[in-house]
Amino acid sequence: MLKDRHQRLIDYLRISVTDRCNLRCRYCMPQEGVRPIPHNEILRYEELIRLARISLSLGIRKIRLTGGEPLVRRGIEFLTRQLASLPGINDLSMTTNGLFLAQYAESLHRAGLHRVNVSMDSLNPRRYRQITRGGDLDRVWEGIRTALKVGMHPVKINVVVMRGFNEDEVLDFAELSQEWPLQVRFIEWMPVGGKNSWSPKAFVPSDRILSLIRKRFSLRPLEEAIGNGPARIYRIEGGEGSVGVISPVSRHFCQHCNRLRLTPDGKLRTCLFSDQETDLKALLRSGAGDEEIRETIVRAIRDKPSEGPLHRNDPRLKKCARPMNRIGG
Ligand code: 5AD
Ligand code: SF4
Repeated sequence: MLKDRHQRLIDYLRISVTDRCNLRCRYCMPQEGVRPIPHNEILRYEELIRLARISLSLGIRKIRLTGGEPLVRRGIEFLTRQLASLPGINDLSMTTNGLFLAQYAESLHRAGLHRVNVSMDSLNPRRYRQITRGGDLDRVWEGIRTALKVGMHPVKINVVVMRGFNEDEVLDFAELSQEWPLQVRFIEWMPVGGKNSWSPKAFVPSDRILSLIRKRFSLRPLEEAIGNGPARIYRIEGGEGSVGVISPVSRHFCQHCNRLRLTPDGKLRTCLFSDQETDLKALLRSGAGDEEIRETIVRAIRDKPSEGPLHRNDPRLKKCARPMNRIGG
């Protein structure tokens, strides 16, 4: 078991396999995109697999693949199969924008991917295209249906709620969870990254989302939500699926934070909001042995900040300047 100095159990590693993405969501990237990290700076699969194996030997149990968009990296099925076969892994999942999911869902599932979270911020095709600057909602839907069909479970939908963009769709999304066996999760928009359009005016707190839903539906809290993250999950009476809220801004879940993040260029981040990073790529490429890497990871975990600088003004913590696509949501 792996604990930090605040007695938090660390068992969850999010691996961002690429900073590249086939979309340009308005809350994530500027219109012109961001300069991609050069290929030789991105961890190779063998390096990723080695770090995953070492992390699992230390007590990590759950791994999520993210991006950018993980499905734009070639050979992602190979990586999935290798990770799924490592000893100690209990849960292997992926966060994707869903555009390539119809194509990949079956082979990924066969390779050992248990489940996916699909980002889908609008149910209106025109608006979806506008928010993502060009995304095709039909393809995302086809991806979601395919994931369900091949037996991925649970399939979760991530909705970043923004006033003036999609706040008026909260009830439509709740209805979606009535008709489909999906877990729809409304996420508070976070002020992450160097250049983004976050504004307090467009920010919608989770409590407001819940009260919007309660106007139409009665919500029953679900105790044991599968893949138990920081979400608060509810069932709607008679519905197939569930709804949830994730409140990274309005509520501190730092004291329950169980996660680590590995960036595409091989930096270990122990807090999403802090640019305090450990350069594992440099260590790997300097020829370090497993033991040295293990010790470095354990040390980084021990120094995991107790809370993010978003929640407390700690001068030792630098604010998050890395854009989201280079961290992995
Ligand atoms: N705030 C909240 N969620 C975000 N995501 C990306 N940027 C932000 C942000 N600033 C979401 C994506 C995806 C997940 C990985 O993180 O929509 O669902
Ligand atoms: Fe791509 Fe995800 Fe950023 Fe959208 S939010 S541009 S899908 S990385």
